[in-house]
Amino acid sequence: MYSQADLKNLVDKAIINLTYNREAERLIDPVKYVLSIGGKRLRPVLSLLACNLFNDQIDEAVMPATGIEVFHNFTLVHDDIIDQAPVRRSFPTVHSKWNVNQAILSGDVMAFIANECFLQAPSRCMLKVFREYNKAAIEVCTGQQLDIDFEKALIVSEAEYIRMIELKTAVLIAASVKIGAIIGGAEEKDAENLYEFGRYLGLAFQIQDDLLDIYGDIKLFGKVPGGDIAANKKSFLSVKAFELSKGKQFKLLQDLFSDKESDSERKVRAVMDIYEKLNIRMLTENLANEYIEKAFSMLEKVEVAKERKKELTLVAGSLIGRVQ
Ligand code: IPE
Ligand code: IPE
Ligand code: MG
Ligand code: MG
Ligand code: MG
Repeated sequence: MYSQADLKNLVDKAIINLTYNREAERLIDPVKYVLSIGGKRLRPVLSLLACNLFNDQIDEAVMPATGIEVFHNFTLVHDDIIDQAPVRRSFPTVHSKWNVNQAILSGDVMAFIANECFLQAPSRCMLKVFREYNKAAIEVCTGQQLDIDFEKALIVSEAEYIRMIELKTAVLIAASVKIGAIIGGAEEKDAENLYEFGRYLGLAFQIQDDLLDIYGDIKLFGKVPGGDIAANKKSFLSVKAFELSKGKQFKLLQDLFSDKESDSERKVRAVMDIYEKLNIRMLTENLANEYIEKAFSMLEKVEVAKERKKELTLVAGSLIGRVQ
């Protein structure tokens, strides 16, 4: 059985060994940059761990797992343009270091480099794996669109918010796990249960990301604190605060979240003050924990010996207290 650290190393090596068409150097420089500035490699590690549940041989799953990571990094490059984020993994974002057009084009090519990785999946299951990936990729774009739409929406319900993060974040994590399981030779039912495991894990993961956006340590989290509030992005915290606030407090929240011009530090502080009064942090942590529990109950259903699930359980458990 492989450990999380072993698998991260494998993926990092595969990323370093990617080959590029270097006819237009400027296209590839940002690709190499974003793939080299860190990242937890969570999705490929989960994919390889899922493969390893069923098979001691994981080699065939390495390139598709790498493809998922390249795709994920592509979504980050474009997400940072959309969210006007200056910093990612404690480094300047691609559009800040180069420019927006460069970030669009270098991001685009990453999606096709990801396809190249998927073309190295074993032929016995390539179509199945590719369909799973492509479905998730379309859903991620759908989720990102809803995320953009919600910036303008006055009120977003908890259900609408959860559906949005399911699409933008959870389905890729779910597909990563399922793809690893398929390559490892899992039965349909186990692959499905693992998809659900990944989906719940992904929901918890995005809710934790929303929390860290405000309460995270910038040095570890590597993104500008309060970025969601400054850019009027909806998060689980803001959705819950709108739901629970009344009268003057509700009006103040509305004003804060429609205000683009004002001093963002002051704005973040004012929103945090409301969150504190409404106990938003604890409510958010509780929901993330509920999803982690749901994830664990799906993992229990997977029909492999409990010892084989140890590392996957460890990784899932560590996501909730994560700081980066
Ligand atoms: C960031 O993903 C985007 C979200 C879905 C919250 P990660 O937190 O996995 O980012 P890296 O790859 O480790 O930097
Ligand atoms: C990220 O959501 C979702 C995708 C990249 C698809 P966020 O916008 O919350 O991610 P961060 O916080 O910028 O990493
Ligand atoms: Mg975003
Ligand atoms: Mg973002
Ligand atoms: Mg975020």
